[in-house]
Amino acid sequence: MIGVGYWGAKQLRVMRGTPGVSSVVAVDARIEHLPDLAHLVAEGRGFTSLQAALPHVDAFVIATPPATHAHLGLQAIEAGKHVLIEKPLATTTADALLLIAAAREAGVTLMVGHTFEYNAAVWMLRDLVQSRELGDLYHLTSSRLNMGLYQSDVNVVFDLAPHDVSIANHVLGQAPSSVTAWGSHHVDPTFEDVAFLRLDYADLGAHATIHVSWLDPVKTRRITAVGSKKMAVYDDTAEERIRIHDKAVLLPDAGSPARKQYHQGAITSPPIAFDEPLAVQARHFVDCAVTGATPRTDGANGLAVVQVIEAAQLSLAEERRVQLDEILTRSLPHSVAALIPTPVPSQRNGKVLRTFAS
Ligand SMILES: NC(=O)c1ccc[n+]([C@@H]2O[C@H](COP(=O)([O-])OP(=O)(O)OC[C@H]3O[C@@H](n4cnc5c(N)ncnc54)[C@H](O)[C@@H]3O)[C@@H](O)[C@H]2O)c1
Repeated sequence: MIGVGYWGAKQLRVMRGTPGVSSVVAVDARIEHLPDLAHLVAEGRGFTSLQAALPHVDAFVIATPPATHAHLGLQAIEAGKHVLIEKPLATTTADALLLIAAAREAGVTLMVGHTFEYNAAVWMLRDLVQSRELGDLYHLTSSRLNMGLYQSDVNVVFDLAPHDVSIANHVLGQAPSSVTAWGSHHVDPTFEDVAFLRLDYADLGAHATIHVSWLDPVKTRRITAVGSKKMAVYDDTAEERIRIHDKAVLLPDAGSPARKQYHQGAITSPPIAFDEPLAVQARHFVDCAVTGATPRTDGANGLAVVQVIEAAQLSLAEERRVQLDEILTRSLPHSVAALIPTPVPSQRNGKVLRTFAS
């Protein structure tokens, strides 16, 4: 376990109870100053660097600040260790690509900690959208707000939006085609502490909007999916995590002078068999490392989110919409970019999908 701060401490607790894990050692640059962990150093189970821990482990979980993920991940992979890296996988698309290539070369598992993709409520939201129980999806709207926790090395987009982007990609079953972002900083002189993102899923004719903030009085973790037949709200702070609203705006027939009608039906909340997402994620990581199976949140899944976050940073800086393809091609050497296959349009349910020729 590398990085045993706020989130790493939770990971450490979960990893200690994960089947297949015989022992966990802790690595933290500050380990001698962490009251709960300092004793591990004397016991030979606590270290200040990844290199010192190498002989003692088969796999690493990295929960250090985002800017350190790629460097530490590459060291672990090059030493032949399986790696679970906390979100975001890396802070640039180029670094995410390097991690993927290195893991493939070394034949080790590379997984990203997109914890919400191991959350039963998110699976239910995905099923509601993909089974079309909500009808045609109009939009997803996500809010992740609170007072803090301010980070020292990244803005609020890097800190919080990876969750919302990974959820949106998971629920919609693909990555967006373009990103537009707006943000502002108030308390922090450098980093945006409030931001709004718009993700366009052109192939689906749908979009997702994301509001992330470290400067809000009310803790909010809510995602709303609005369809032509019904609407669903996933509230991670509520007891009934998923609520399905049988509500819709009914359109009059084309050419009819009738007005729009508002259908107001019942609100239902299906039961969700809940298993701690972090524990589900940990078990999956160990399974993949042992069996060689591809993780659900593999390097490509992590890359898709990093690309969106990088596009959002560019959009913030240049105040324009940024195409995802632009991020990928500017991150690759020219020789490799030329090999990217040209998208071929295909049809599904009357909508154009983009697939690749090879
Ligand atoms: N999946 C989730 O829901 C979730 C929630 C919170 C945070 N996170 C992620 O977890 C990661 C850590 O966030 P945090 O809030 O716990 O940060 P934190 O600052 O509380 O902890 C980071 C720890 O890493 C240590 N560290 C830094 N550089 C190191 C290095 N090179 N080698 C060894 N140790 C080093 C620090 O001493 C510190 O103890 C981030 O990537 C964050 O995005 C994920």
